[in-house]
Amino acid sequence: MQRLRRFRKNKKIRNKYAEVQLAAEDFIHPYFVVAGSNIKKEIASLQGVYHLSIDKLLLDIEESIALGLNKIILFGVINNDLKDNLGSKAYENANLVAVAIKKIKEKYPQLIVIADVCLCGYTDHGHCGILNGHDVDNDATLPFLAKIALSYAHAGADFVAPSAMMDGQVEIIRKVLNKKNLTNIKILAYAAKYSSSFYGPFRGAVNCSIANGDRSTYQMDYRTQEQALMEVDADIKEGCDWVMVKPAHTYLDIIHKIKLAYPEEILVGYQVSGEYMMIKVTAERGFFDEQEAMLEALTAIKRSGANYIISYYAKDYLKMLR
Ligand code: PBG
Repeated sequence: MQRLRRFRKNKKIRNKYAEVQLAAEDFIHPYFVVAGSNIKKEIASLQGVYHLSIDKLLLDIEESIALGLNKIILFGVINNDLKDNLGSKAYENANLVAVAIKKIKEKYPQLIVIADVCLCGYTDHGHCGILNGHDVDNDATLPFLAKIALSYAHAGADFVAPSAMMDGQVEIIRKVLNKKNLTNIKILAYAAKYSSSFYGPFRGAVNCSIANGDRSTYQMDYRTQEQALMEVDADIKEGCDWVMVKPAHTYLDIIHKIKLAYPEEILVGYQVSGEYMMIKVTAERGFFDEQEAMLEALTAIKRSGANYIISYYAKDYLKMLR
């Protein structure tokens, strides 16, 4: 008989054998920025997460930094009446996210600021790219993504993070950044991004639901895994710095596979809105303890091979450490 219970005899022993440890630096905090001032409004579909105007965002970031956080990812949220079919508000001069980045970096130069690069929060049709008829036109979309990335890079972002799942998006962004001598800006590629129901609450947060249709012609099919490796391979060759798998919980196998195939690459797992809300709502109904479930879920993402975790629980986790 093997006496494996020996490893579990008491908490001290269990801690000694723990192979995975979460730390403050493992987290990337997602923030949703809106225009205006003095706005801090809870997002109905994402409990405990807020729409923040830049002034309030700076205050919240200050709190997060005090808790040990050193990385954030920014999403811009605009009113529907400002959206058009080319997503102009994403890249016009002094756009919301660019201004936010500038102010954040002025105040917290050490903080690593990642800016999500996509059109879906800015187009009236809700797609992540430019439409040609009913289809999203890959190559026509690329220059727009490059324009967005350039505007965020100019504003001082440390990373731009293209999430549109257009082929060649990393390549064009790298090219444009190089051309402008912005060679220090890093690219976090949403490399393996699956077409997923678990983005539902996020789409409520940025009002980017698609009236008719879905994103399955560009986001990955969840019945595939080899394509995830192909996506990562392509993005590395195109010049990205970090790669991401998204969602995380439902795709731990993909995270693991990528980690094994590319052990040297920095890999980010995104615990997406629906995965976060599953825990929130189940806990709220009293079926499990929120902190315990959160810890287990986040640890699983790291155990599977992710170096960093994007999570709406980042701050709750940091508070728990205190
Ligand atoms: C934008 C984007 C989405 C998410 C992050 N960036 C939505 C989507 O692709 O439909 C989802 C994040 C989440 O659900 O928490 N392309």
